[in-house]
Formats: sequence, C-alpha cells, structure tokens
Amino acid sequence: MSFAIKVNGNTHSLDVDGDTPLLWVLRDALGMTGTKFGCGMALCGACTVQIDGAPTRSCVTPIDSVGASSITTIEAIGATPAGAKIQKAWLDLEVVQCGYCQSGQIMSASALLSSNPHPTDSDIDDAMSGNICRCGTYVRIREAIKHAAQSI
Ligand code: FES
Ligand code: FES
Repeated sequence: MSFAIKVNGNTHSLDVDGDTPLLWVLRDALGMTGTKFGCGMALCGACTVQIDGAPTRSCVTPIDSVGASSITTIEAIGATPAGAKIQKAWLDLEVVQCGYCQSGQIMSASALLSSNPHPTDSDIDDAMSGNICRCGTYVRIREAIKHAAQSI
C-alpha cells in the first residue's frame, strides 16, 4: 500500500504493507537509524519516537495507524526547544554509557519536558519508567532532566 508520512517536517511517500511497524519504516525505508530496535514488544523504550509530541513505541505502531500525524525522531529532536535543552543536559552531565537506549530516553525526556517544564521526581519516574537502560544510567538521566528543567 502507498502511504505518505510526515517525519521531522518532511513528507515521505512509501509503498509498504500497512502492518509494517513504524520502526522499520524509519530504519529500513527512510534510512533513519537513530531509532533503535530493542525488544520489539513495547517493553524497553529503545524505539521511542514522538507522534504529535507524544512518546510512542515505534516497534508496535503499524504504519497504517499513523495517518497525517507528525512524527519526530532523534535525528530532529534537537531542533525543538525541549529537545535542545535535554540534549545539552545529557552532554553536560555525561549521561550516556553504551548509548543504545539513549535515543529513546531522550525522546521520552523531551516529551516530558515539553508537556511539563518543571517535573517532580514522581513525574520523571512516571514518564521514564518504560525506558530501560541496561547500563543503569537512571540516576544521571533523572539529574539531567532536572538540569534541563532549570534552564527553562
Ligand atoms: S523495541 Fe520498541 S519498546 Fe523495545
Ligand atoms: S546507556 Fe547502555 S543501555 Fe542505556
């Protein structure tokens, strides 16, 4: 089937099966490999993108459910106000260890800060609980979100 999807402000025309997960459309059809595959079952958060600003697990989002929504990926999140602050905080606090989970972490954290500029610890826990980090960078992630919030 033919689809036209809007990613990072650009419209792309594709011919793929309707049940193809958005993750594979991004990675294989569009060559945007910043969004990662972890579990494929909405359990780890590595594949998180934003759809109309909401953090969304792209591994379980079929392309035919996206419609005219605006998709933002890690490749463009730095162009958004919250994304720029989060990425700077990630660098300032040297959050990243192996890095594999981090694009998903940044997409969830940016969505949180965009909707809630001054999150409490509980807000951060709620927003980030679906993003798993096998390197255990959770403490630095929480501090970086607070650091980013202070600059708003
Ligand atoms: S790959 Fe999508 S949540 Fe794990
Ligand atoms: S930084 Fe390695 S899995 Fe999170």
